[in-house]
Amino acid sequence: MSRKAGRMFQRLGGSALLLSAMLFSAPMAQAAPAPGASAASGQAQFDNLWLGSAWYPEQWPEERWAEDLRLMKAHGANVVRIGEFAWSRMEPIEGQYDMDWLVRAVRLADRYGIKVVIGTPTDTPPAWMTQKYPEVLRVDSDGRRLGHGGRRQFSISDPHYRQLSRDIVSRMAQALGREANVIGWQIGNEYTDESYDPAARAAWVDWLKARYGTLDKLNDAWTTAYWSQTYSDWTQVPFNTDKGNPGWMLECKRFITSQWVAFQKNQLDAIRAHALPAQFITTNLGGLGWANRFDRYAINRDLDFASWDNYVGTGHLKSYRNGATHDLVRGWKRKNFWVMEIQPGFVNWAPVSNMLYPGETRAMAWQAIGHGADGILYWQWRNALNGQETMHGSILGPDGKPLPVYEEVSRIGRDMAKAAPAIVGTSPVSPVAILQDYPSRWTIDFQPHHKDYDQISVLLDYYAPLKDALGSVDIVEAQGPLDRYKLVVAPNLSIINDDLAKKLTAYVRGGGHLILGPRSGQRDDYDRLQPRRQPGLLADLLGGQVEQFYALDEPVEVGSGKATIWAEDLSIKASDVETLLRYGKANGWLDGHAAAITRRVGKGRITYVGALLDQGLMKGLIDGALEGAGVARDFPVPADVELMTREGDGRSIVILINHGREDRSVTLPRTMDDILEGGRKTSITLAAEGVAVLQDVRK
Ligand code: GAL
Repeated sequence: MSRKAGRMFQRLGGSALLLSAMLFSAPMAQAAPAPGASAASGQAQFDNLWLGSAWYPEQWPEERWAEDLRLMKAHGANVVRIGEFAWSRMEPIEGQYDMDWLVRAVRLADRYGIKVVIGTPTDTPPAWMTQKYPEVLRVDSDGRRLGHGGRRQFSISDPHYRQLSRDIVSRMAQALGREANVIGWQIGNEYTDESYDPAARAAWVDWLKARYGTLDKLNDAWTTAYWSQTYSDWTQVPFNTDKGNPGWMLECKRFITSQWVAFQKNQLDAIRAHALPAQFITTNLGGLGWANRFDRYAINRDLDFASWDNYVGTGHLKSYRNGATHDLVRGWKRKNFWVMEIQPGFVNWAPVSNMLYPGETRAMAWQAIGHGADGILYWQWRNALNGQETMHGSILGPDGKPLPVYEEVSRIGRDMAKAAPAIVGTSPVSPVAILQDYPSRWTIDFQPHHKDYDQISVLLDYYAPLKDALGSVDIVEAQGPLDRYKLVVAPNLSIINDDLAKKLTAYVRGGGHLILGPRSGQRDDYDRLQPRRQPGLLADLLGGQVEQFYALDEPVEVGSGKATIWAEDLSIKASDVETLLRYGKANGWLDGHAAAITRRVGKGRITYVGALLDQGLMKGLIDGALEGAGVARDFPVPADVELMTREGDGRSIVILINHGREDRSVTLPRTMDDILEGGRKTSITLAAEGVAVLQDVRK
């Protein structure tokens, strides 16, 4: 061990846990303009702060609609989403369309100053269709065909269902695409389940043929000599994602992604053929944000902006996880997004569907805005009098009158109206990024090696100290541009192919600091082990490698702290590599060996962290990396208070939320305009769930 590395080890092993800025120092990368800010100009979705809810006029007598819209307007709504489950109302009999009621609803909303987002109803095919054309019904991976009565019972791959979807969506677009009060479209609802029907299987075979050309290539990529899996006919290739060779399961995930992209494109083209160019097209992705049945970057590529559905379920807002999910969603398109559904207090599907605390619904809305949301829509306005969701939280009761949460939603409406002039045109801007990659996540999920290896928790372990230091943290895919970041963390990048290795190498040589987490670079695009040790194609750049990985059945000592679940034994292969962390007494194999190493390369730096570190070690690592990379910290806030920042158009916005149960006082670094309460402030006291929206007047 060099003397420098020895000093480093001592410091990490000591109480200070501060990494040397000198060791981590890397010249600064130039910050580029705010993502999204320029792309947003002139587009309705970013020209306002939008507040509203999901409304189902088809469930109510038309005489009631005006009262609903009046009550929406009164709480500050300026948008409403309609239509997404109403296929049987739009086409009650095959080929007999009725779009007039939708047009009437859109025009009535206009009278109340409420814009409309139209949802396409393809999540819920009508009963006449599933009876007459059972092939449109989804087949699950065990080969069972679904029946009618719920939703999501359709096949995303069946050509007939695609045609029927295109027909209904074309009719909708013809009726509504030139309505000035329609600002945009949502395709389907929370894409979830793929189908394993015969049409899907045929498409899978075609997809494989196009990708591989020959079976020899496929057999080689999947190492089918193993367990006598060699295929001599394309139709022999299995089709599922949960029971087999990871090579085919990884491809199956890519194929499913392509099916969703095509399913969506089919409707997107139908809308675009008739809709005003100003009308946006998005979809609301669910699954609590992190779901990975398919690649969500690919889904969002064709859309104007990303949206998702933000639910807490049981308990209360987990501020880091929820905030990181917003950042993930912002990263899908690298621009501001909408929360197309958010819970008005409680849901109906959680183990305990408890109510949020008073003020927490408001805090949740402001957290979304702080992380880059420009639209917030409650699910739902008023519960249907029957159906699967009569117990869900809503804004109106079964009597059509406001529930207690209406008052809180009204406060959000007043807040948003006050803040919109300052906030519109701003976005979160960060000097650091965490990389997120669906294929890498799939490979680790296929072979986790430890039942508690949770990739989202691993990512959040890095996210928390970054977020404590900064108002904004980006979470983006590895494939996009990285040069605007001074520090890039890749917690779970198991697949590093040639292109990505070149790109990350250029990033490091150009002055960036790249931190790789455990399992990095182990795989290629086919989920094959790289024929060299981790981090595979980056091992030479690192000047070190993983000698062996270990799933841990008990914690091991690292520096002054501990690692759990996973630990890798790192070795150094070049003289200028420094050891940042060493195992203490561990499992025998690891004792005294390196757990984290770092190397300055060109103008930048690469670091490899081989273990899942405890909070103290992680804080030391990240604080040192930020300092070394020259990332200025935002001003400190007390525990439980979240600081969020948005910038753009020469404005700098600070949003503070107290997620705790006690009052908290925040000293501001300079005088700021208090947008919600008025006046200029140098400090702010926030009650539990309290929110402050400030404009930094210095900038
Ligand atoms: C969402 C869904 C909505 C509603 C809501 C209830 O996942 O998109 O239609 O079911 O959950 O929380």
